[in-house]
Amino acid sequence: MDSSLDVSLDRSSSEPLSAQIAGNLRVAIRDGRLAPGARLPSWRDLAARLGVGRGTVRSAYERLIDERLIVTAGAAGTRVVAQPARAESAAAPAPTLTAPLSGLLHDFSAPPLPFEMGVPAQDAFPAKLWSRLRARALRTGAMSPVTYPDPRGSATLRSQLASYLAIARGIHCAPDQIVLTAGYRGGLGLTLAALQLAGRTAWMEEPGYMVTRTGLQLAGLRPVPIPVDAHGLDVEHGLALAPEAALAVVTPGQHAPTGVPMSPARRQALLRWAVRAQAWIVEDDYLSELQLQGRAAPALAAADRHGRVIHIGTFSKTMSPSLGLGFVVAPLALAERFAEVAGCLAPAPNLVTQLAFAEFMAEGHYLRHLRHMKTLYAQRRDALRARLGPQADIDAMAGLAVRLRLPPGSDDRAIAAEAVRRGVAPSSVSRWYADPQQHRQERGLLLGVTNLTEARLAPACDTLMALLAEMR
Ligand SMILES: Cc1ncc(COP(=O)(O)O)c(C=O)c1O
Repeated sequence: MDSSLDVSLDRSSSEPLSAQIAGNLRVAIRDGRLAPGARLPSWRDLAARLGVGRGTVRSAYERLIDERLIVTAGAAGTRVVAQPARAESAAAPAPTLTAPLSGLLHDFSAPPLPFEMGVPAQDAFPAKLWSRLRARALRTGAMSPVTYPDPRGSATLRSQLASYLAIARGIHCAPDQIVLTAGYRGGLGLTLAALQLAGRTAWMEEPGYMVTRTGLQLAGLRPVPIPVDAHGLDVEHGLALAPEAALAVVTPGQHAPTGVPMSPARRQALLRWAVRAQAWIVEDDYLSELQLQGRAAPALAAADRHGRVIHIGTFSKTMSPSLGLGFVVAPLALAERFAEVAGCLAPAPNLVTQLAFAEFMAEGHYLRHLRHMKTLYAQRRDALRARLGPQADIDAMAGLAVRLRLPPGSDDRAIAAEAVRRGVAPSSVSRWYADPQQHRQERGLLLGVTNLTEARLAPACDTLMALLAEMR
């Protein structure tokens, strides 16, 4: 090794000496000072020269061997490989690809903006408690046998969920009918893989959740928009528009995005249709008990006597989408199929999160958190209504958002896009329609209330009202 390969070490640095030695040699190889095939000194020689332990040089060499920059060849010593891998800096620039769900979520790397829908109150998330439970679960997980976990998810958590669902949602199921998933979307993916309905038609609420619509299409189904009125999805319309449907996806608890609960008569009509047509119903219970007025109605699955409803729950709204946790309750006759699909295509997510959440439920924190969120969101909704004043055309509470009507034909998407540039993020009502042209009278903005802290409320409303005044 010639003198141009001086290895300089900084003994005051927090970077370990072996990493510094490896770094020096890596640079020398990449810039050609150490040519392909060049021989490196033995550990012993280099250690003596640098005044470090042999183990230190050895671990630096092992690292470069792992990076395929050098090779050892017995008596031939250690040499630079004939063709060192290209430096990262010389690699082709990463292509810029469009992120998924663009237009729905404004930026994955930024904190939520005021009015943003679908995110919980940042300031009310029990972060300390959650990190303590996660740390404990991480230790438990690390100590447990290294083996494949049950793809349906933790048996403890599934038992807890079965008890919870009986009380809170009126669903009576065995823990083995439950599969834990990566939220609602994970549950939808699992369900569509299990039902194998590619090529068939599905009733989809109009307006309805665009992620479900696209999800159905990605799984090869043909979603047909079925109007939703003040009682929920109009089953008669469904029969007229797509009698051949094999599936309906509904949000009966609180319709997304209008917030109306599906009436008892409509629930019965939908269940009767499913039995007659031998069709399936997917119940998207995204808000679960998180209803700001009164007590949430039982789930649709609670009234299902013939095993036609696949109930999907999520903790994205009640807790946080960052948990990435939800579940599917499969009808008894399908439970083994769902378990098989979980085992082969969609195993339950992150065991640490499951264990932490099981503790969170067992210690009573979940129900306490839900109660707290209901009160907080109701206060934030009232504060928003008061701030917008009587002149604002507010026509409904849509789940955890206030709906502000705009004159028919307004370009609510352009307004929503401009709002994001100004630092607030309402959603346009027209985005929720498969065919917004047919519903030109339905223009407006959905203003999520969850993140409207006292400090944010006034400036957010002022920004929005100024923008609306300009657009008029
Ligand atoms: C109608 C509806 N379903 C489900 C979800 C939640 O999906 P996930 O659990 O995949 O976060 C949302 C979130 O905004 C929603 O609006």
